[in-house]
Amino acid sequence: MRTPKELVAAMTLEEKCSLLSGLDFWHTKPVERLGIPSVMVSDGPHGLRKQDDKADHLGVNDSIKAVCFPAACATTASFDRGVVRRLGEAMGDQCQHEQVAVNLGPAINIKRSPLCGRNFEYMSEDPYLAGEMATSLIQGTQSKNIGTSVKHFAANDQEHRRMSSDSVIDERTLREIYLPAFEAAAKKGKAWTFMCSYNKVNGEYASQNRWLLNDLLRDEWGYEGYVMSDWGAVSDRVKGVHAGLDLEMPASGGQRDKLVMQAVLDGKLDEKDVDLCVERMLTIHQKYWDNAKPETPWDMEADHELAAKLAADCLVLLKNEDGILPLKKEEKVALIGEFAAKPRFQGGGSSHINSFKVTSLKDALADNANVCYAQGYTIAGEAVDEVLEAEAVAAAKAADKVVVVAGLPDSFESEGYDRTHMRMPANQNALIEKIAAVNPNVIVLLYNGSPVEMPWIGCVKGLIEGYLAGQNVGNANKAVLYGEVNPSARLPETMPIRLEDTPCYLTYGGEGNTAIYTEGIYVGYRWYETKKQPVLFPFGYGLSYTTFSYSNLRLGAECVKDTDTLAVCVDVTNTGKVAGKEVVQLYVHDRESKVFRPIRELKGFDKVELQPGETKTVQFTLDKRSFAYWNTQIHDWHVETGVFDIEICRNAHEVILSAPVTVESTVELPRCYTPDSIILDIMDDPKAMQAIKPLMDQLAQTFGGGENSEAASEAVSDEMTKAMIGYMPLRSLMSFGPMGLDQLDGIVAALNAK
Ligand code: BGC
Repeated sequence: MRTPKELVAAMTLEEKCSLLSGLDFWHTKPVERLGIPSVMVSDGPHGLRKQDDKADHLGVNDSIKAVCFPAACATTASFDRGVVRRLGEAMGDQCQHEQVAVNLGPAINIKRSPLCGRNFEYMSEDPYLAGEMATSLIQGTQSKNIGTSVKHFAANDQEHRRMSSDSVIDERTLREIYLPAFEAAAKKGKAWTFMCSYNKVNGEYASQNRWLLNDLLRDEWGYEGYVMSDWGAVSDRVKGVHAGLDLEMPASGGQRDKLVMQAVLDGKLDEKDVDLCVERMLTIHQKYWDNAKPETPWDMEADHELAAKLAADCLVLLKNEDGILPLKKEEKVALIGEFAAKPRFQGGGSSHINSFKVTSLKDALADNANVCYAQGYTIAGEAVDEVLEAEAVAAAKAADKVVVVAGLPDSFESEGYDRTHMRMPANQNALIEKIAAVNPNVIVLLYNGSPVEMPWIGCVKGLIEGYLAGQNVGNANKAVLYGEVNPSARLPETMPIRLEDTPCYLTYGGEGNTAIYTEGIYVGYRWYETKKQPVLFPFGYGLSYTTFSYSNLRLGAECVKDTDTLAVCVDVTNTGKVAGKEVVQLYVHDRESKVFRPIRELKGFDKVELQPGETKTVQFTLDKRSFAYWNTQIHDWHVETGVFDIEICRNAHEVILSAPVTVESTVELPRCYTPDSIILDIMDDPKAMQAIKPLMDQLAQTFGGGENSEAASEAVSDEMTKAMIGYMPLRSLMSFGPMGLDQLDGIVAALNAK
């Protein structure tokens, strides 16, 4: 086959324009004359939603039978790059088998609020964690020569008015919170495709936002793949082509292709823009065509087992009072809750998988005669069913321990709309409290895609965040409950106490079509920790059936430049009696800064497996980005010279070991003093200070220094003098101080001199 460039050169304008939109819901168009085949794309990313005939983007119509792996809320909790990579590889094989060229995921928008209806599909509130996990998932799938589509680019953090809402975000917040995961997916993950979001980003639809799709993604990040639209996200297609939106999905009956063609003919759009889009798409599709392996086997039973294995590493043990877990086979256990028999193991909408088989916890425990089951509540509504409740209470009374499986039914969270509260159904909350009143040994196992309020937390001894663990949820749950697998996951998001505590409680969802991100960079733990806001469980929290100790934190240097890297090592020991995996978390704390900074930010994590008594050294490499903030003056990452603490933490709240390092900036920020610059800012800048030293000496005399200072001192404190002088603009030295108008310009020029 000819190269993409040659193919583009051989095409008519009409043929090229025709390739700018889909053939139908899931395919790109072929150009038979030139032997260009069509390719298929399908949702994902935690299973294959391949629709053979009836197509839709909401998961309404059935897709082929497939395997549903744990959703991203769960897999990210593993904090294990290997887990998501393995998931990605499995998806790659399935796509090869089914001849799907691109799996539409991962979805990596930041969990700005627990209310977002799609949080179950998203990875984290932390951009570093989301970027790392996304990269591994992408690499896993693409190692099989199947593309991924990183979505939804960008700032699609709510479902409310998702197709019209404008995410209004200041430059620094965008760069530090909402873009880095995408940046990692582009630069490190090298995702074959990106999917633009429905919403606007700062006033322009993502689908036609040239800053986003071209200047940032291509020019700055060096991205070489192509961008497709989210399904139905296109508004102005001509603008979109110029902006760098290569493919419109799904088909628009060729209508918008004609608009593009006309724009080229009218001289309103450069044909080169069209050529670029087509060439980028063909380049990616060729990677698939050249490596298609439809003969790849798909052993669904094996993947069902894999789904359980991966899910077991994603369950977060949140509470284990008196070592109530793991359960012992001989203990009499009451298993309670409709979810135990009819699990919610995935979210609703476009990622919905048609599972070929589902194993519930009740199924998985069927061969254990010491386990009895009672439904307890109904998923269908919130009303207490007294008969079911009484049965469950009776079962609980007769048991040694009780496992209540509870959580959010589908109607409580889904793609398409946001939650309005963080509560679980009232009947489930009531049941847990009733059961805890008759049996002190209660363990709650949650199935949910996003945090919930837990009014009963004080009366249960055990708690497992089970998330949406995929179709083999039962075996994964059983493995952790009975200690066959030692839980090792950590929360990839904060569990707040109440909705009112969350960072964007006051403004989430926006007004009309405008969603202003008023909380800025204070998202997730950056908010709770900096504000010292108590939470139920902090980001990064999770327990194990063993214990770990940390020692010997060492840094490669005491002082580095921002162009250097810094090696960090720490020893971790399993101090308990069983083997286990520990997630080692590294955060950076800037001791002093002129800009607002969160108290700590995650900059490294690793998961290590340790036998009892075993010690391993975990190593991290930090670089400029680990210390930098986004500086809006130079529009670049910048490190302020100063001392930073390298904190090894158990979670975002608990620092175990800490060591300081001095980082020196090699970048001098441009000076731009004006007559309005205030003395305080000049005083902060040693070089500038030199330039106005004589003036300052005179000023000090005038305010406080002089002969009559004794009389003045009663009314004027040092603090006040400092403040009065500090907040004075240079120009006011003409009124209060020693300077004449003729001097002002000269001083400003001297201040700005290099
Ligand atoms: C969703 C995407 C999905 C697409 C195709 C859209 O509604 O936002 O995540 O990939 O549909 O189903």
